[in-house]
Amino acid sequence: MPAPLFLRACRGEVTERAPIWVMRQAGRYLPEYRRVRAGVSFLELCKTPKLAAEVTLQPIQRFGFDAAILFSDLLVPLEAMGLEVQFTEQGPRLPEPVRAPADLRRVGRFDAASKTGFVMETIRVLRGQLGDTPLIGFAGAPFTVATYAIEGRTAKSFTETKGFFYRHPVEARQLLGLIAEATRDYLRAQVRAGAQAIQIFDSWVGVVSADDWESFVLPPTAALVSEVRAAGVPVIYFANGATTIFERIARVGADVYGVDWRLPIDEARARLGVPAAVQGNLDPSVLLGPASEIQRRATEIVRRGGKRGHVFNLGHGIYPETPVESVEALVAAVRAA
Ligand code: CP3
Repeated sequence: MPAPLFLRACRGEVTERAPIWVMRQAGRYLPEYRRVRAGVSFLELCKTPKLAAEVTLQPIQRFGFDAAILFSDLLVPLEAMGLEVQFTEQGPRLPEPVRAPADLRRVGRFDAASKTGFVMETIRVLRGQLGDTPLIGFAGAPFTVATYAIEGRTAKSFTETKGFFYRHPVEARQLLGLIAEATRDYLRAQVRAGAQAIQIFDSWVGVVSADDWESFVLPPTAALVSEVRAAGVPVIYFANGATTIFERIARVGADVYGVDWRLPIDEARARLGVPAAVQGNLDPSVLLGPASEIQRRATEIVRRGGKRGHVFNLGHGIYPETPVESVEALVAAVRAA
């Protein structure tokens, strides 16, 4: 049996068609997710392996995506690192964020097998149920996780984060390093439990300048990527909003680069300047339009992505208001292209 399509594309091989999965594929746009979610809070859902596995499988069963992604959240390991996390109607909140150098004492490595045992159990349950469909584990990148640690919420201007960086550059680098080490342990535990690829989400890295990216963000992120790759799985680095600095981003050393929707995927690939695979990059808003437009744009992305090392995805997470029929049209278009 050849390796699954998704894993071959991650390794930069030529594939007979582009494999497809969708960021946030398990979530509120699915009626079957909303039914499960009606009975439990979001964090309970993440922490109950049977339910987390069930919602992970929902989009696989409905659409036949070429990869599953562990159902959890970027902020789950932050809680294990020592910072309380709440999910409110207005989004995530950390009541006691890192605002001063002394607060670093409250953040650190943790034993992934015990403190986040529910994640590892979810992975084991899934591997028993997924058959040939590969399972992607994930975590946030050091910078994106640090923005939550410092801001205590999804930021708008990122002034708390950047202010902390410029006032306390030594401690800012320490914080990024602590998060990178804790995340390394956490991701290696996911691989041991059965994750076959890892995606590192740098959702907010687009807000830093190229110079700050090189001096603050690159060192801990590159260390994390190489330490996770050493566990033997392909690593996807999704640097949202950062196609403008893609030649620098390539220094992270990932197997696959997630491309947001801002640049055509062939241009983004050329900018990388390294022979890595790419993943992306349909604007998730296109799924709010008609099937004909979804088909036209998806086909164009498959063409521009090329035969070698292209994983089809959206350029960012799917919106909760997306009609299920749009996802059906998308999968059909990518399969037919
Ligand atoms: O992709 C998947 O299907 C796996 C599950 C997944 C979730 N969050 C589930 C979720 C993944 C991979 C994430 C990652 C995540 N979480 C990111 C990075 C991805 C990105 O979009 O860039 C970020 C920034 C978060 C933090 C987070 N989680 C926020 C800001 C919010 C609230 C905003 C919102 O969309 O509601 C969440 C909640 C969340 N994470 C939901 C889901 C399905 C909605 C929770 C609910 O059911 O009410």
